[in-house]
Amino acid sequence: MKFSFVTLFPSLIEFYFNDSILARAKDKGILSCEFYNPRIYTNNKHQKVDAPVVGGGAGMLMTVQPLFACLDDIKKNNEDIHIIFATPVAKDFKQNDAKRLAKKKHIVFVSGRYEGIDERVIEKYADEVFSIGEYVLTGGELPSLVMADAISRNIDEVLGNASSLELESYENNLLEAPSFAKPENFDNLSIIKEFSKGNHSKISDLKFQMSLYKTKYYKPNKEIR
Ligand code: ADE
Repeated sequence: MKFSFVTLFPSLIEFYFNDSILARAKDKGILSCEFYNPRIYTNNKHQKVDAPVVGGGAGMLMTVQPLFACLDDIKKNNEDIHIIFATPVAKDFKQNDAKRLAKKKHIVFVSGRYEGIDERVIEKYADEVFSIGEYVLTGGELPSLVMADAISRNIDEVLGNASSLELESYENNLLEAPSFAKPENFDNLSIIKEFSKGNHSKISDLKFQMSLYKTKYYKPNKEIR
């Protein structure tokens, strides 16, 4: 998988791929990242990439010209790309999207700044548009990174142990049951006794019940399938 990030602030994203699981995936050649800064593409003699909103409204928007030039350049030099815009005005990004998008070869994430991106850019270039939740961030860099991370762990061989994907939260639409690690007693706090006894069918029944409770408690409106 190749990720291309279109951002005015590449350093906000780049560091995240330098440690842990994603760094290992990069070293193994499973993942690669590249960065495009729309400021490089601006025709404006002061290197401006933003302008006031037409018709009034607070703040500035990222303008059409630098983003058109940048995205045309990416399209010209790459086949088979999937372009995703991060904006709060979109459907929510879900685990199923992460799994589906993990099968793509090359994803381009476009991060907005200021009050957002001129809608004509989204209309012309977006294959998909996602929000990562009902709050407004200062830019699309964190959302792009969140999506890239969630997608990456669904790519074959990125996680060392593929079975760790099987019973995690949002698989079967349920939140994951609680887990415990050794030691089984710490500071007079013990774990659920059944978990120590090794009866796997009993443990999985219990975990399923706990998943249901957690889901009903934390997400009472969630449809349980
Ligand atoms: N940009 C600013 N806020 C955002 C959000 N919640 N999701 C996606 N992109 C954003």
